[in-house]
Amino acid sequence: MTDRRDLQAFHPFGRLNSLLDGVPAGHSGIDVPELAAGEPTLLSVGEPQNQPPAFVAEEIARAAADWSRYPPPRGTGAYAKACLAWLTQRYGLSAGMIDPQRMFLPLAGTREGLFFAALATTPADPGTGETPVILMPNPFYHVYAGAAAAAGAEAICVPATRENGFLPDYGALPPEVLARTTLCYYCSPANPQGAVASLAQLQDLIALARRYGFTVAFDECYAEIYTETPPPGALEAAAALGGTLDNMLVFHSLSKRSSAPGLRCGFVVGDPRQIRAIEGLLRVGSAGVPLPVIAAGTRLWQEESHAKANRARYQANFTVAERVLGNRFGFRKPAGGFFLWLDVGDGESAAVTLWREAGIKVLPGAYMCAEDAAGDNPGTPYIRIALVYDAALTEAALARLGEIL
Ligand SMILES: Cc1ncc(COP(=O)(O)O)c(C=O)c1O
Repeated sequence: MTDRRDLQAFHPFGRLNSLLDGVPAGHSGIDVPELAAGEPTLLSVGEPQNQPPAFVAEEIARAAADWSRYPPPRGTGAYAKACLAWLTQRYGLSAGMIDPQRMFLPLAGTREGLFFAALATTPADPGTGETPVILMPNPFYHVYAGAAAAAGAEAICVPATRENGFLPDYGALPPEVLARTTLCYYCSPANPQGAVASLAQLQDLIALARRYGFTVAFDECYAEIYTETPPPGALEAAAALGGTLDNMLVFHSLSKRSSAPGLRCGFVVGDPRQIRAIEGLLRVGSAGVPLPVIAAGTRLWQEESHAKANRARYQANFTVAERVLGNRFGFRKPAGGFFLWLDVGDGESAAVTLWREAGIKVLPGAYMCAEDAAGDNPGTPYIRIALVYDAALTEAALARLGEIL
């Protein structure tokens, strides 16, 4: 278990900076308008580079008087209504399935909610004499591991490899582990592999959580970024199981859907008991979502055309990746998300070579993984590449990468 005073230990970008420290960036020779001459190509961070719609700035300006108000922890009724209308339409839910008073909270992006979910579900002393467990996929978004450490839980990282379709099979864990589990993180579309869970897999996980009495945190922040068909969601699965949100929390945000990672705007819906606990934590530990941001977020959840255009950009990037990479590095077009998870043999050495030769920054896969029981890091052969630029830059960068590796 990691010391909660050292949560930075989980940060993959700190490790990447140390790896590249002292290695001069090479010149890529990539000549595209999106990049100033000689500027490095940063494919390591999943930060959408497209601009959100212009109406975001207009809404924020219109609500300027509200900068003098503290953010209300429950946002506004209009924001809740817009989020629930979007969920209802996106997942074909029946009206009234989600009670905004008891089952909904605005969040400053999914990250803070994913973090607080660990504290909300994991008692400091479970009274059983046993250490609580938080489950997560391996590879994982670093916040899951940091949250587990902060909650004093044992983090168990469950393989999400090519052999099992890049999704963790929590149902295969020993009953003793499941009995100690308080929370389980599940990401679909998955960062980094882009795997998408089927409706049946989501239903099975909810049923498992209800059988053992733990909560599933469904991280669906990539739900709107997909290559062909819209990924099923946990709320659809809950509807098929009868409609209650017991033992589940579902997280969404505008960072990826609307290319607005700087806006810090999202929400969680789920089990009223856990929502109440998260609200308590947010009220003491979060600054809240400012009202002008809530106003812009309301418009964004109501508007589909920009999300569609945004998705088309990523789809074009994957078409380019398919053309440039073929089946090299184990490439296959992922079902969702905007990352490539490429098997290059040795991810750390590939990251150093790409940086030194061409100023291309990628993330070694090992930095997103924990060692398995045998002491092996399953991410070692991989690099993660974020396809967050336009198709021209993507094409030039992947062609250069293909030449170098
Ligand atoms: C898997 C995953 N979950 C959650 C987040 C947090 O995103 P946000 O807080 O912007 O919604 C990210 C961000 O990159 C992510 O990759």
